[in-house]
Amino acid sequence: MEARILIIEDDLVSQKLHRKVIESAGYKVTMAADGLEGLSYAKEQDFDLVISDVMMPNMDGYETCQRLRENPKTAQIPILLLTALDNLKSKIKGFEAGADDYLSKPYEPDELVARVSVLLRRKPVPVEPRQTLEKKGKMIGVFSLRDGVGVSTIAVNLATGLAQLWGQESVLVDLALTAGQAALMLNLPLRNTWADLAHMEAEEIDQEVLSQTLRSHPSGVHVLSAPRRVEDGELIQAAKVNRVLEILQQSYDYIVLDLPHNFSETTLAGLDIADEILVVLAPELASVRSTAMALEVFEPLEYSLDSTRLILNWVFERQGLSVVDIEAVLSREIKTVIPFASEQFVRAINYGTPPVLDEPESTLGVIFEDLAFWVSQDDHKKLRPEEPTEAWKRLAKRMRKRRQ
Ligand SMILES: Nc1ncnc2c1ncn2[C@@H]1O[C@H](COP(=O)(O)OP(=O)(O)O)[C@@H](O)[C@H]1O
Ligand SMILES: [Mg+2]
Repeated sequence: MEARILIIEDDLVSQKLHRKVIESAGYKVTMAADGLEGLSYAKEQDFDLVISDVMMPNMDGYETCQRLRENPKTAQIPILLLTALDNLKSKIKGFEAGADDYLSKPYEPDELVARVSVLLRRKPVPVEPRQTLEKKGKMIGVFSLRDGVGVSTIAVNLATGLAQLWGQESVLVDLALTAGQAALMLNLPLRNTWADLAHMEAEEIDQEVLSQTLRSHPSGVHVLSAPRRVEDGELIQAAKVNRVLEILQQSYDYIVLDLPHNFSETTLAGLDIADEILVVLAPELASVRSTAMALEVFEPLEYSLDSTRLILNWVFERQGLSVVDIEAVLSREIKTVIPFASEQFVRAINYGTPPVLDEPESTLGVIFEDLAFWVSQDDHKKLRPEEPTEAWKRLAKRMRKRRQ
């Protein structure tokens, strides 16, 4: 069946042009002259894709996009925005409104057709139920009481590393519900987020609902993003977080939590259920002190020493405290050290490609791949996989070398 495409465009000349390009690619076109008209068509009829201009009278493309996302009937339709300006601000605005892709005008007809066919091929992520309920995935929380030490950076690279290492989908859950940026770090649109779950009862959430809410990254990471709006994040309660994490545990082998920098109820729900907690710190006094405070809280909560691991991240370049000094203060061993690498990380964020994916053989790539291996499930670590991935082969080679 030919795909049905709704084009929302106010300018008559552009209308003609879009129609010609899209129809000659074999799609069926419905034209709307502005956002309001587009919304009413989208409500009445079924479309496979929406292409919308941004600057229009009555209702602009961003608001149209937002309204389409708010209505359950149209929430899942891929949206391509045509922006007149190729600037970062309009890209971020479109991303926040829930658009899937952008093309700046004037465009090459072939480029438009290519983008359209890619968007039409994208499907929601199916979450496969496990056969036996006892089989549980491993949940890894990444945490620090102080912000800006690289928690999200590490969580994103770890989830990606795990997916690459075991050739299976992993999940990244952004639990920084009022400020999370995990989706942005993977360049994923904020189309489905925790906000979709905000107005549901915890009991109503099941695998089916979650599979609609996760966004998938080409690396194999499925992301549960933080809401676009702070208010929506505030509606998520601990019981709901618990429910979501329990379902994910039944469906995936690895779940990585990007935790916020506090001990709120929802954070504790994540920490409680985690099998292992990576505590991140920077080599400076305030960070070391807040790590000591966090570890003090962990004790009465009975998070065992074996299941917490310290990661030292050089978020600045020079004059940090030494590993030996930090270990002495905390009476704990630092298991992983991440060097200062601002250029690599800035590039990674701007392009949505974590170093572990983009440059697996670089220093950072190796560190994250190793880390992914060390936090992997014991039965995975023991055996050679039937079909080893490239990441697994690299890792095995490194381990052999180190043993020599
Ligand atoms: N090893 C590093 N070297 C240089 N910059 C880093 C490093 N790790 C993280 N950063 C940068 O520090 C900033 C904060 O990282 P982020 O992961 O958002 O921290 P958090 O989640 O703890 O607030 C980001 O801009 C990130 O790119
Ligand atoms: Mg963060």
